Amino acid sequence: MTAIEARDVALSFGSTPALRGASLSVDPGEIVAVMGPSGSGKSTLLHCLAGILVPDAGEIRLDGRRLDTMNEQERSVLRRDRFGFVFQFGQLVPELTAEENVALPLLLGGVRRTAAFQEARPWFERLGLAGLERRRSGELSGGQAQRVALARGLVARPSVLFADEPTGALDSLTGEQVMDLLVACAREQGTTVVLVTHEARVAAYADRQVIVRDGKVNALVRS
Ligand SMILES: Nc1ncnc2c1ncn2[C@@H]1O[C@H](COP(=O)(O)OP(=O)(O)O)[C@@H](O)[C@H]1O
Ligand SMILES: [Mg+2]
Repeated sequence: MTAIEARDVALSFGSTPALRGASLSVDPGEIVAVMGPSGSGKSTLLHCLAGILVPDAGEIRLDGRRLDTMNEQERSVLRRDRFGFVFQFGQLVPELTAEENVALPLLLGGVRRTAAFQEARPWFERLGLAGLERRRSGELSGGQAQRVALARGLVARPSVLFADEPTGALDSLTGEQVMDLLVACAREQGTTVVLVTHEARVAAYADRQVIVRDGKVNALVRS
């Protein structure tokens, strides 16, 4: 059984085709790197897999269940309950403390405040962020903010973590630290990871690499 799958997915933005028959199957617990040049359709593919965008044609499946035919509300529940996200620029909520940002997916999922913070707390130790719980995103370095974003992406134990250029805004050493933690935590939780990156060094962390070119997943390198 595949964890998440795109089959012959096509999507255009107006007259610009972003995906033209893209297919990708990811096994449970597998970490797949989606590589390819800028503008090739990597983020669009990730957004289709995650139920953020609905393809014009083709199918998306989570654990064998069609996702692209669900309505917006069903997909939003699925995103909340089954998916975690890490984007290039952390996108922490600036008004919230680091701790509140990490607890947010749990709170949105209906977990009580005390329990949510209890679950959020160990992530600070685990990701080398102890002592930064009460800081706001403006008071964190880029690497610290991205580790908080990683904790937020994993705290609700998602089935699939979607990471779009998670190290794109970091220097290479800081990027490696974030990737080491991302991979270690995902493995520990058995989380499936779809990792979009154009950096070979980052893709090397994955079990498998695929390449998106002209809106198709048309090359595959087993590592
Ligand atoms: N919201 C959008 N509106 C219009 N065109 C878009 C939008 N998002 C992406 N595109 C276009 O779709 C193509 C694929 O983009 P994208 O998936 O972001 O590529 P990548 O992530 O590989 O850089 C590009 O030609 C891009 O300009
Ligand atoms: Mg992109």
